[in-house]
Amino acid sequence: MKNMILAASIALLLLAKGAHAQQPPGDVAKGKALYMKNGCYECHGTVGQGGTGPRLAPRTASLAYVRKPAGQMPPYTPKVMPDAELLDVQAYLMSIPAPPAVKSLGILNQ
Ligand code: HEC
Repeated sequence: MKNMILAASIALLLLAKGAHAQQPPGDVAKGKALYMKNGCYECHGTVGQGGTGPRLAPRTASLAYVRKPAGQMPPYTPKVMPDAELLDVQAYLMSIPAPPAVKSLGILNQ
């Protein structure tokens, strides 16, 4: 059972990697780990869906905002999160598919 879960996770990771032609240079799996480790998920949701902070996924823009946030968000210096790690997190956020349009969800249209 454990092996099946592991195999499924790896397959999903590979799918997430292959599905996006314009991935930034970062590493999706590392980015996900960093996103969780550094607490981004606490405000932006575990898959970047948003929470206290705005939705972040799917995202193509740079994450430079984290260096000097203008509002409620705490700053992340290069010491805490080097640029390479930001690229990994960006790759992770980009690998998350956009949610379906509300119009495509039949019952919500009635
Ligand atoms: C304590 C809550 C909190 C944490 C932790 C946090 N954020 Fe934020 N973030 C916010 C809020 C709130 C905003 C909205 C602007 C503001 O108030 O600064 C924001 C805004 C942003 C934006 C700009 C959004 C846009 O649409 O341009 C980015 C990018 C971002 N956060 C990335 C991150 C990343 C990456 C991490 C982890 C390294 C992180 N945030 C951790 C609360 C948080």
